[in-house]
Amino acid sequence: MSAPIPKPGILDIAPYVPGRAKLAGVERPLKLSANENPFGCSEAARAAFLTGSSELALYPDANTSRLRAAIAEKVNLEPERLVFGAGSDEIFAMAAQAYLGPGENAVQPQFGFAAWAIAVAATGARMVSVHEPDYVTDIDAMLAAIDDQTRIVFIANPANPTGAWLPFSEVERLHASMPTRVLLVLDGAYAECAYDIDGFSDGMEWARNKSNVLVTRTFSKVYGLASLRIGWAYGPAPVVAALDRIRLPFSVSRAGEAAAIAALADDAFVQRSVEAFKQGREALADALQAKGVRTLPSATNFVTAYFGDAKPIEAQFAQRGIIVRNLANYGMPNWLRISIGAPAEMERVVEALSTFSPV
Ligand SMILES: Cc1ncc(COP(=O)(O)O)c(C=O)c1O
Repeated sequence: MSAPIPKPGILDIAPYVPGRAKLAGVERPLKLSANENPFGCSEAARAAFLTGSSELALYPDANTSRLRAAIAEKVNLEPERLVFGAGSDEIFAMAAQAYLGPGENAVQPQFGFAAWAIAVAATGARMVSVHEPDYVTDIDAMLAAIDDQTRIVFIANPANPTGAWLPFSEVERLHASMPTRVLLVLDGAYAECAYDIDGFSDGMEWARNKSNVLVTRTFSKVYGLASLRIGWAYGPAPVVAALDRIRLPFSVSRAGEAAAIAALADDAFVQRSVEAFKQGREALADALQAKGVRTLPSATNFVTAYFGDAKPIEAQFAQRGIIVRNLANYGMPNWLRISIGAPAEMERVVEALSTFSPV
């Protein structure tokens, strides 16, 4: 019997591999595999979500007007230049769908965030991955990779899975030498974690007068609302207009929108989380380095560490009920990525590490 055949290339796409969430025989594993917020979310956000539960029968506002206004006011942006999606993942997919097709390409650093490549491949275009010497985006090599068929350049600052951050001058240098017909997608999923670093910028203000920059953000990380799937982007009016033509109308739920508005207003929660991530990643890096394990400098809520042979270490964590992220699907099979948990959880991690052999 014949079956419907997907478009060429669709079945060549390697499915997204999320961080593992389960361990056989462990009822409540310590999940440090998806860079979630171990402190949950703002209490005000949770309350707003619960209030929203009385309106589950209603469609959301297709323009996400209230959250749009709240972000525009807080971040000082033009509300009409914002676009929303089911996580920033959906915004990458929209950008790819709007700007790429067969015969064209997008450019990313070698260890680019996995969802970008899926979004690109789904359009029939090709992703060009540019070598990252020592796990940091190489701007000159990125520029050299841009050709006449390039339509999008993706970078994340800070980056996942490396945790690396670029001085904003490097982002500016990339942009300054790119053709303006190429869209620069600047993924700021972890930007809040890096605000205190000298030389870092999320690029929001800078993007205001650029014709080809789309800055993406998410409520999934520091705001602790990963389950609600709320991402947003700020871009030039024509780019936003293009995405608006193809976006699904109701990606942001009503209760999700209400929760995000409350989360946005809770600066204290964000600040506490950012501070805890900083302390946690420094303590974890120290503990790993004390054992002779190389860690990549991180400006995020995770630490990426080199174990030579990562699988046995991952297994030893699992024996102690701890799930970390194996980075084999990122082409980093000897590395593990460990999300920062609450302080007591990190004590468990360090304690577990002290018993491992060989590390
Ligand atoms: C660099 C980067 N960008 C984007 C995302 C996706 O976030 P969202 O939950 O908004 O789709 C992640 C999630 O892990 C990420 O690490």
